[in-house]
Amino acid sequence: MNLKNRDFLQIMDFTPEEIKYLLRLALEYKAKKQKRIPHREFEEYNIALIFEKSSTRTRCSFEVAAHDLGMGSTYINSNNSHLGVKESIADTARILSGIYDGICYRGYEQEIVDELAEHALVPVWNGLTNEAHPTQILADFMTIKEKFGRLKGVKMVYLGDAHYNIGNSLLVGAAKMGMDLTIAAPKEFYPTPELIAECQMLAEQTGAKLRFEEDIQKAAVNADVLYTDVWVSMGEPEEFWIPRIKQLAHCQVNSELMSLAHEDAIFMHCLPAFHDLKTATAREINLKTGIEEMEVTDEVFNGEQSYVYQQAENRMHTIKAVMAATINKI
Ligand code: CP
Ligand code: NVA
Repeated sequence: MNLKNRDFLQIMDFTPEEIKYLLRLALEYKAKKQKRIPHREFEEYNIALIFEKSSTRTRCSFEVAAHDLGMGSTYINSNNSHLGVKESIADTARILSGIYDGICYRGYEQEIVDELAEHALVPVWNGLTNEAHPTQILADFMTIKEKFGRLKGVKMVYLGDAHYNIGNSLLVGAAKMGMDLTIAAPKEFYPTPELIAECQMLAEQTGAKLRFEEDIQKAAVNADVLYTDVWVSMGEPEEFWIPRIKQLAHCQVNSELMSLAHEDAIFMHCLPAFHDLKTATAREINLKTGIEEMEVTDEVFNGEQSYVYQQAENRMHTIKAVMAATINKI
């Protein structure tokens, strides 16, 4: 398997075999990390991290993964760089390509990361756009594989806002890997008809089952995985919160919903999650609406079936695998 010099822009660009290879590599790196076996395979290499949106997991994962591989990293954000203000995406791509061996980009439209990749001479990794979050999906699949030993046929239900990055990328990933995915949401929160049609075509080849269900309880029955995300994503207007709560409140993952799933089912969330009032945003929303828990209850989030911390840790191992597989090491 040779992924050298490949960009990692969206799951759609990778074959099931390539995805399996990245997951195997991530498992190998995880085992090394747990035993503290050094794997500084990329000394003398460096990466740039461009973040136009906030991040805890993705940034830390790239930085620690780079460090473990022996690489240096530079964090760049909109406030401390010329990107998009005094220097175009194309110029930035060419300049960073002369200094770095790979570039991670987190920001708004997918076209920006695509443009960066078009002009860069080194691999570009999508650290999240409005439309896609491909490194997240690798960590999700690694976690599911660790729990169930397989991806094919695993019955995953994704609840809530499915028309943004996580819903889109999970749909593509499930189609590629032959999973049984139900999007459980009001119709207006489904991915675009174009993406659904493309994924249905993929599903015919891989044996994946993709379903779309407005009845949340019906969708949850016998699920292996209940997965949700925030109801308003980074980059969406603050005013969306009140209407979204009204539209998506019935999609909340709570213990009643968990009890409909398989007894061995797990709860997943890309994080950050609104499950209590310990954040400024949650308190602000609470003042306006009285709501104390949003997409997931505190009980489920901190319950025995919750795999969110393992999932978050796996971000680092999978990002390490993506970098190690794609950097053009000479
Ligand atoms: N899941 C995820 O991408 O988290 P961050 O926004 O903290 O990077
Ligand atoms: N949909 C969320 C995912 C965060 C990892 C967002 O874009 O804010």
